Amino acid sequence: MSDLRTWLEWVEALGQLQRVAAPVDWDEELGAITYLVASRENAPALLFENVCGHPGWRVLSNLIGSSLDRLALTLGLPPGLRPLECIAASRERVRRRLPPVEVAWAEAPLAARVWQGAEVDLTALPAPKFWPRDGGRYVGSGTVLITRHPETGTLNLGTYRQMLHGPREVGVYISPGKDGLQHLQAAWRRGEALPAVAVYGLDPLLLVVGSQSFGAHTSEYDVAGGIRGEPVAVVRGPVTGLPIPATAEIAVEGFLDPDALRREGPLGEFTGYYGRPAGAAPVLRVEALYCREQPILTAAMAAEYPICEQALFIALARAARLWDDLERLGVPGIRGVYAHPAAAAGFAMVVVSLEQRYAGHAAQVLALAAQAPSTAYYTKWIIAVDEDVDPSDLNQVLWALSVRCHPTRDIDLLRRTWSTPLDPSQNDEADRPYGAKVLINACRDLRPPGHTAPRALLREQTYRRVAARWGELGFVGAPPRPPALDPGEAPLPAETKFAAGVE
Ligand SMILES: Cc1cc2nc3c(=O)[nH]c(=O)nc-3n(C[C@H](O)[C@H](O)[C@H](O)COP(=O)(O)O)c2cc1C
Repeated sequence: MSDLRTWLEWVEALGQLQRVAAPVDWDEELGAITYLVASRENAPALLFENVCGHPGWRVLSNLIGSSLDRLALTLGLPPGLRPLECIAASRERVRRRLPPVEVAWAEAPLAARVWQGAEVDLTALPAPKFWPRDGGRYVGSGTVLITRHPETGTLNLGTYRQMLHGPREVGVYISPGKDGLQHLQAAWRRGEALPAVAVYGLDPLLLVVGSQSFGAHTSEYDVAGGIRGEPVAVVRGPVTGLPIPATAEIAVEGFLDPDALRREGPLGEFTGYYGRPAGAAPVLRVEALYCREQPILTAAMAAEYPICEQALFIALARAARLWDDLERLGVPGIRGVYAHPAAAAGFAMVVVSLEQRYAGHAAQVLALAAQAPSTAYYTKWIIAVDEDVDPSDLNQVLWALSVRCHPTRDIDLLRRTWSTPLDPSQNDEADRPYGAKVLINACRDLRPPGHTAPRALLREQTYRRVAARWGELGFVGAPPRPPALDPGEAPLPAETKFAAGVE
């Protein structure tokens, strides 16, 4: 059975786990340490082993963070992949489905410790208060909420933040349209409470799938099983009957009672702002608490990249989905898609690399990428580059923007598009949910005579010769791979109109 502990062993073996044995306060200090460490790209995961006032409990933060290797491990892929390789490999895995398998309660590591009814005290958990203006302690941040639609029976795992109200009460914020809220509204329309399980210490794969939308009729358990190629082991919750990950570190069972609402938030978010102001949110009434020995609470800090827990995995997932969307539409020549995690956790910018095959090809790709289901929400910057530009390499993208894009000719704007009030760049209340999109064509101009200046590239033969002698020359590791090479078959034009400055 895969679990967080096996994942931590892999991560430690990669040298990417830092244990913090010194005492640390849950009140802003744990958040501050995570912020400072994670502000460097590829920073290690942090295991806090001594949270003040919470002996016996541990907290893991910066789980995946900005580490591509830790994301690859989470998806069952080998470390050492480049971003586009990781995206290409995950596209195939995300399409597979494998339903969970049920194991007996006695076999579930989660069942090691059990509290029921009045014995439950969630204030014993080392829930962090990340930011000075957070509305409270967040027991659920690296979490999933498991619910079943009362009419369709579909099971959903969704990552929705959860704020501690008291020993047995947790506030759950679910934004409009999300599957969890649809389950809740369906139950409340019937005058019924919605049974729910919240997992507070989990295999990072469940966090990755719980933070994405797979449609109202797909269970994220099936997606997680498909990605790893191994079904998720679950136990049937004694209180709700819902399937709970058997190897979870910490989980609770309870009910979201009709119209039980309490003030929740705010919380520092992926935009680097406190997004939604404090407001009424549903309350989970907890009936049972389960955990493993020496349990680990998974804490997902939200902030600007590279600190933001979700930025890298959401960015790569968006890129993979846009790539799928474009291929499904039959658009030829797509060589790579990337969403930059630094652009508001991958939400604000996408870059598509294509081999231009006809006049207007780049403009077509830009228009579709701007409004595809995978990227229409929020995205402000949509950039098309040629096949010799790696869309995941910001240096190369900036180069293309600088030498192939002419602003008066190559930039278009879409207004009043789908976005979110969480975007802090809009102040006017009525305008807040609307976004705008800039479509930037940073591809070579194909119109004749075009730019005849040849691009300065290494000759392919020379590159191969040097690459073969890389070690002999005293360099360690593999030689870098240039984005393009000059095949050197045709003689290079000695002089061109453009190069001679005669326009
Ligand atoms: C760390 C983290 C925290 C999140 N917090 C919330 C939240 O509080 N409320 C919310 O609606 N979505 C939140 N999201 C986004 C949802 O997880 C995402 O929209 C997902 O698609 C929801 O699942 P669903 O599509 O099954 O409803 C969060 C995502 C992450 C990674």
